Amino acid sequence: MIQNTRNSYGSIAKLFHWTIAFLIIGMYILANIMMYLSPSVMKYSLYDLHKSTGLLIFSLVLLRLIWRWINPSPMLPLSVPRVQKIASQINTILLYMLMIIFPISGGIMTTMSGHPIKFYNLFVIQPLYYNLNSIAKAAREIHGYSAYALCILVSLHTLAAFYHHFVIKDQILRRMLPKRN
Ligand code: HEM
Repeated sequence: MIQNTRNSYGSIAKLFHWTIAFLIIGMYILANIMMYLSPSVMKYSLYDLHKSTGLLIFSLVLLRLIWRWINPSPMLPLSVPRVQKIASQINTILLYMLMIIFPISGGIMTTMSGHPIKFYNLFVIQPLYYNLNSIAKAAREIHGYSAYALCILVSLHTLAAFYHHFVIKDQILRRMLPKRN
């Protein structure tokens, strides 16, 4: 089933969810390795990989939002208390906002401080300006804070999914997993 139904996610929404989740978790690991390496060819290659993957995530999130717009998400089961439904909606909105702010701030930070983005060596996005360090600095702060915020929200989100699966034992996690026939 490609499209979402009233009660379950379709394969496209699942593919978007798990690809982006995997890439974002990978980006945290990558960022924490590259930041602590001393200057070397390896360090700069990892920075290039980080920037390329940031642009890839940004593009995938835009496509995911278009898909979500033409193919709305399933509703939460009636058994879920209203307060949890509201918390889940707020969390989803914040997750999407951060998935946009995070790569955009990274892109601004890099291009405004005079560095290009070499997209997996396929094409190059040239720096916009060379003397906008104040903007680059603000973007760096936003990038850093959004990393923490996203980490907290994803942890809450994952805990909620596990709580529903292992404690309440409902279908909420299962409907986001690949279907086994
Ligand atoms: C192992 C980690 C994760 C688990 C177990 C998980 C689980 C789930 C589940 C079960 C849903 C469906 C909830 C429902 O039916 O209403 C969901 C939706 C969602 N997840 Fe995750 N998730 C994980 C990681 C992530 C990550 C890293 C992100 C991105 C930062 C993310 C973003 C979202 C968003 C935005 C939705 C809402 C989808 C929509 O309705 O458009 N998730 N997740």
